Amino acid sequence: MAGGGKVDAFVTDLSSQAQIRRLAGELLSALPRIDVLINNAGGYWNTRHTTADGIEHTFALNHLSPFLLTNLLLERLQLGGSARVITVSSNAQALGRINFNDLQGEHSYSGGTAYNQSKLANLLFTYELARRLQGTSVTANVLHPGIVSTGFGAEDPGRARRLPVPLLRPFMLTADQGAKTTTHLASAPDLTDVNGRFFARRRPRRSSNPSYDQATASQLWKVSGEMTGLTPAG
Ligand SMILES: NC(=O)c1ccc[n+]([C@@H]2O[C@H](COP(=O)([O-])OP(=O)(O)OC[C@H]3O[C@@H](n4cnc5c(N)ncnc54)[C@H](OP(=O)(O)O)[C@@H]3O)[C@@H](O)[C@H]2O)c1
Repeated sequence: MAGGGKVDAFVTDLSSQAQIRRLAGELLSALPRIDVLINNAGGYWNTRHTTADGIEHTFALNHLSPFLLTNLLLERLQLGGSARVITVSSNAQALGRINFNDLQGEHSYSGGTAYNQSKLANLLFTYELARRLQGTSVTANVLHPGIVSTGFGAEDPGRARRLPVPLLRPFMLTADQGAKTTTHLASAPDLTDVNGRFFARRRPRRSSNPSYDQATASQLWKVSGEMTGLTPAG
């Protein structure tokens, strides 16, 4: 590691709630303090898949996993002098709508609709978390990394993504460039007190109108709490 630091790796499947709980337990045992939590894992599936918990994969990995892991680590994050929760969303948030009548695409599934919904959910989650964290030493922010040449969506891309992506690759950001907004949010000293903002290209931006809807954020938090067993149903 650059600078000679020590790195410990914790391996998990973030689409499984049992594995997220196991990971959280391992992290809480190993880390007396957590300064930064970056929720980065995410994916796109052209066809509908379900996880070991029977939940639609995009919603489970892109939204429920950061929701559950963050909540399980929140007390530890609050123990330090200051801490940051950073969630990697996408400009696809602008196309997203939260469909409470069919959150998991059981009646009608499209990879794009599921992905856009999950990336809007990243914003609603972050803004609600930021409201709940007001007055504490922990902040929550969310970002679009740019269009980055990665393995994104490779497992089940569908024709519409499989064909153009190789042609567009030369114009995409490298992985290092795509990480810059994330590392900026994780480390910039002037962002210590910045809470509940959306960033792209390392600058704060306005996100879509639905992302600021507090009633939707509150309902999504409630449903997510029930789906992850953090709060009782009802
Ligand atoms: N690429 C873009 O242009 C773009 C644009 C906007 C937003 N984003 C967002 O950026 C984030 C990262 O995407 P990426 O472009 O780097 O895609 P990627 O190359 O497919 O990487 C996805 C990452 O998520 C991890 N991951 C996937 N499923 C997992 C699981 N079940 N458990 C644990 N880890 C899992 C992968 O781990 P392994 O490597 O171990 O599989 C990998 O580190 C996503 O949230 C995506 O929505 C990407």
